[in-house]
Amino acid sequence: MPTREEILEALKSVIDPEIRKDVVELGMVREITIGDDRVDVMISLTTGGCPLRNHFVVAVRKALRGLGVDECGVEFDVLSPEEKAALQKKLGMSSGLPTGDAAGLNAIRNVICVGSGKGGVGKSSLTVNLAAALVAEGKTVGVLDADVWGYSIPRMFGLGSDRPPISPQRKILPLESQGVKIMSIGFFVPEDSAVVWRGPMLHKALNQFLEDVEWGALDYLLIDLPPGTGDVSMTLAQLLPQAQFLLVTTPQPAAQKVAKRAAEMATKVSLDVLGVVENMSGFTTPGGERFPIFGEGGGQELADELDVPLFGKVPLTMPLRVQADAGVPIVAEDPSDPASQAVRQVARGLIAVEPQLPPVLEDLAELPVMQHEPKGASLPMA
Ligand SMILES: Nc1ncnc2c1ncn2[C@@H]1O[C@H](COP(=O)(O)OP(=O)(O)OP(=O)(O)O)[C@@H](O)[C@H]1O
Ligand SMILES: [Mg+2]
Repeated sequence: MPTREEILEALKSVIDPEIRKDVVELGMVREITIGDDRVDVMISLTTGGCPLRNHFVVAVRKALRGLGVDECGVEFDVLSPEEKAALQKKLGMSSGLPTGDAAGLNAIRNVICVGSGKGGVGKSSLTVNLAAALVAEGKTVGVLDADVWGYSIPRMFGLGSDRPPISPQRKILPLESQGVKIMSIGFFVPEDSAVVWRGPMLHKALNQFLEDVEWGALDYLLIDLPPGTGDVSMTLAQLLPQAQFLLVTTPQPAAQKVAKRAAEMATKVSLDVLGVVENMSGFTTPGGERFPIFGEGGGQELADELDVPLFGKVPLTMPLRVQADAGVPIVAEDPSDPASQAVRQVARGLIAVEPQLPPVLEDLAELPVMQHEPKGASLPMA
């Protein structure tokens, strides 16, 4: 079993999504109990009814799994008024600590990052079509364009450079197209201007897209990643420990190797790889003759190697590209197109494997919140 110090070190990866600092620094780790084969952690929240509890359960379990601890209990109590006041002072906040209510992220059941390692394999095309396919399956869906350097999501959804409205609560409201809620840096910068953010600026921008956007309750948030690995994925993994990675590859062996590097990166930042989608899987002529333009079998091989499912093989079709350029995903425009059918199948596959965090979410509704308050003090439940 790891030591208390090792556990504390690992818990530094658990970020309070509202305060944006880790729970160790915030002094929110109340208790660590190391048993023979399990570890129990108690986290102190700013409010008993904090809707972010699920976020903490997932993040703590993930941090401990990284230390080889599979059995892990996460319990909660509430900071005493004195502790709250001290924390508020330490953070230099004048207007009270966040209560969790503002962080809508907790109402997102599945977060799927669509990535590849390599450019141009169809991540963005798949993201928009998969979003449309999940809507067709009756799901509520958002798309976050995390390709801050080469955003293409607004165009593929037929959205211009309209600025999203701001709610009375000062939240950014996503734009909508095809029943999908959409957020992209493209809504904020003049068309075709290059965004050069890196490091802290990038982190801040992505954080804002998650925290300051009123996503509301979503079954799925799909995140279109930029090509390559690196900064964006690292940041997202920190902000969204429950995110999973969907890898896009072409049937070519070379693309597969690159996609595998992306998978390795996902593992490094401890995001789970959910599965693989093969794109550009051959072209069938109107006469029915099939040409495997980019080779065969890459998706299956990658899936086998990573021991994850291959959710589908999406063929090359001209309407997919034409519709992306026209701003209406092919899945919404022509469900009979072979690419639409393949993407619909991917969507159904995702729904079928959806663990959705519930075991946790559901037990949480039942979990008592323990209160460690100094004698005599009354605890205002914010
Ligand atoms: N199955 C397909 N059939 C036809 N065209 C496709 C298909 N998939 C993608 N394309 C086209 O290939 C090009 C690249 O696709 P897309 O922009 O989705 O890739 P990407 O992986 O997001 O690229 P980047 O790495 O630059 O973000 C686009 O022109 C798109 O319309
Ligand atoms: Mg793209």
